[in-house]
Amino acid sequence: MADFEKKPVKIVETVLRDAHQSLIATRMPTEEMLPIIDKMDKIGYYAVECWGGATFDASLRFLKEDPWERLRKLRDGFKNTKLQMLFRGQNILGYNHYADDVVEYFVQKSIANGIDIIRIFDCLNDIRNLETAVKATKKENGHAQIALCYTLGDAYTMEYWKDLAKRVEDMGADSLCIKDMAGLLLPAEAEKLVHALKEGTKLPIDLHTHYTSGMASMTYLKAVEAGCDIIDTACSPFALGTSQPSSEVMVKALQGTSFDTGLDVEKMTEICDYFQPYKDEVLASGLLSPKVMGVNVNTLKYQVPGGMLSNLVKQLHDAGKDDKLMEVLEEVPRVRADFGEPPLVTPSSQIVGTQAVMNVLMGERYKMVPKESKKLAKGEFGQSVKPMNPEVQKKILNGEEPITCRPADLLEPQLPKYEEEMKQWKRQPEDVLSYALFPTVAKEFFEYRDAQDTGIDKSKVKNGAYPV
Ligand code: CO
Repeated sequence: MADFEKKPVKIVETVLRDAHQSLIATRMPTEEMLPIIDKMDKIGYYAVECWGGATFDASLRFLKEDPWERLRKLRDGFKNTKLQMLFRGQNILGYNHYADDVVEYFVQKSIANGIDIIRIFDCLNDIRNLETAVKATKKENGHAQIALCYTLGDAYTMEYWKDLAKRVEDMGADSLCIKDMAGLLLPAEAEKLVHALKEGTKLPIDLHTHYTSGMASMTYLKAVEAGCDIIDTACSPFALGTSQPSSEVMVKALQGTSFDTGLDVEKMTEICDYFQPYKDEVLASGLLSPKVMGVNVNTLKYQVPGGMLSNLVKQLHDAGKDDKLMEVLEEVPRVRADFGEPPLVTPSSQIVGTQAVMNVLMGERYKMVPKESKKLAKGEFGQSVKPMNPEVQKKILNGEEPITCRPADLLEPQLPKYEEEMKQWKRQPEDVLSYALFPTVAKEFFEYRDAQDTGIDKSKVKNGAYPV
């Protein structure tokens, strides 16, 4: 028997959150999940990622499900496995900054309803925007994992990552995640990055990537060999493409090595057998497009996340300007540099992408500036890693001064106002949080819920309130 130190790698299963968010626009309903969770609970995953990200919005908007109810049902079923959610720092699960009282209450209710691990990130890696959520998680005895958004650029040196890791540890995080939303992390870079992070911190390191560029399982292997503690993978029918590497493949690949996960692939294939017919169904219905299942070489070439690329294609198509795609793709890195080279992840990816489209379509750069671009230039999303291009900033702000404080410091408590606005629909304390994040969508959902229970004429419920 070889005399090596055993260091089992931990597996976070993403099929109930990121995998279906990435492949089928977050449309997996709770009823598809419930029959298999008893078996999933016996696998021995480190955690199951099942909530947050886009699941909240999609539940209310498209599935007409109460996301809080989903969480409680999952908690009931998962008796031994930790439940994990994704949380956009001061944006919570939305696209704007919220006041601290909303962030704190959301964290409190997430944990009270069953979440164990909250993965918290900020689209600019401005860690001031993580403080409130981290503190609130610790206060509720939850596990606060801080995720650093991985991106490329002059500013993102190994020293930058190492320093950030140290600051994350000082802030009180329980673990650290590298969040590679676009699948840009190359295997050899992953090895260097894990070494650098390990120099900066003693916290466990989790690597999260996507298969979009076809690189992900090689990246995981190199990261694991360099000491990465946790990897995020998806049950095979919902793995690869724009999703994560396959759970079963990674477990098998590490079997018999010092990184052996100890998980039973036989048992895991039963989970795959369960999800396969659902995959066949969504393929047949068109909800799952074969296009997202392969390798997208453009991701490597243009270094933009797959979702952002498809948004750009759509925006240009809607404007009847399909032929401008190359120009826009060349404009994206210039806009990104003007805005201080932010990582491209929600919401910065949408802001940079839309601005690049405007610059090309208008024939003059920054002639048309959406209000989100202005907010980013003003510092209302936080501090970018490099300073903004001063000329561009001046043109966009048109005489207004940028802010330099933590953006939420300028926000008054918001909960009393939201409570007042939605009191007629309130059935549970959590409803105010659904409303705070997505006022229009939540209101339509509340009306739908009331209509179902009172049996009133469904045609009287406003448009969009019923699933089609
Ligand atoms: Co992801």
